[in-house]
Amino acid sequence: MTIFSDDNNFKSDNLDRKNKEIKAEQNDFDKSFENNIRPKSFDEYIGQSALKGNLKISIEAAKKRGQVLDHLLFYGPPGLGKTTLAGVIAAEMDSEIKITSAPALERPRDIIGILMSLKGGEVLFIDEIHRLNKIAEEILYPAMEDFYLDMTTGKAQALKTLRVPVPKFTLIGATTKAGALSGPLRDRFGIIHRLEFYSPTELCAVIKRTASILNFKIEEEGAKAIAKRSRGTPRIANRLVKRVADYALVKSNGIINEEIANQALDVLKIDENGLDTTDRSLMRLIIEKYDGGPVGIETIAAALGEDTRTIEDVYEPYLLQEGLIQRTPRGRKVSPQGYRHLGYKQNSNQQSLFDL
Ligand code: ADE
Repeated sequence: MTIFSDDNNFKSDNLDRKNKEIKAEQNDFDKSFENNIRPKSFDEYIGQSALKGNLKISIEAAKKRGQVLDHLLFYGPPGLGKTTLAGVIAAEMDSEIKITSAPALERPRDIIGILMSLKGGEVLFIDEIHRLNKIAEEILYPAMEDFYLDMTTGKAQALKTLRVPVPKFTLIGATTKAGALSGPLRDRFGIIHRLEFYSPTELCAVIKRTASILNFKIEEEGAKAIAKRSRGTPRIANRLVKRVADYALVKSNGIINEEIANQALDVLKIDENGLDTTDRSLMRLIIEKYDGGPVGIETIAAALGEDTRTIEDVYEPYLLQEGLIQRTPRGRKVSPQGYRHLGYKQNSNQQSLFDL
């Protein structure tokens, strides 16, 4: 065995650990902030109206029959409220919810343990369900279909399979990549639904609701200004309203109006389309280093120091939906609209017209 250890490695390991700790603290803060403002019922939940309408019917029917709700799969970009919606569904079913994610279900005993711990009628929410491993998936199939687990005991000739019942439950799976789910797993969901980006009007309502829960004073035009730059995503809108409220308190009288909101968002370097510095760096990289593309996702991720999954799941969906970049079989390209947005003239040696 070779152990590589020099002072630099040690320092960078320590730095890595410190960064992870800071990230974990930030995540804890984000989680408790998100929990405080999470809607608890359909009446409080804004947006996704088609989905909400369908779910209300399914829930009422399940209650009338005295049955559990069919298993549900939600897919779509992060931050659109998949976990929030799962919590609302559990509450509307008058049941409880257990929340986990596929990477936490690495060993068979992780998934078996959680299934055995469920109470009858409970909702099990598995985030990033496309990352479930094959063994965990196979344990899940009979549990989803007929509410039992196949357990083996003993060895070789004495091997026995036992059918162990699990309480009836509703699985809600969430994924940013429906296409990465195996066919057999996808087929076991009764309801499959894509969550859509929010309209500025819906985001405005989310922002005003959050501001009122957190006791921030906000004007209609202030809420609209934040909504416009929230990339169709309530999670981003809620984060921005907090940052803008801090700015309003320090730089003004604490009231979020249009002018203060725009000033704060400019300071945060979020442009009029809601793009941040990483979005713009990604597009600039493709334009300046790769002649506008196409260029592979791994190359982009390495150049930006991000991992491919973050680029694919967090940054790309909105840039694609806004038509600023395009996905081709040979990689990503910046669209003519993307060039215009950054103030570049296409095919003129990628000269930026102004520095953003
Ligand atoms: N906060 C985050 N998502 C929300 C939603 N859809 N409705 C209300 N508040 C939210």
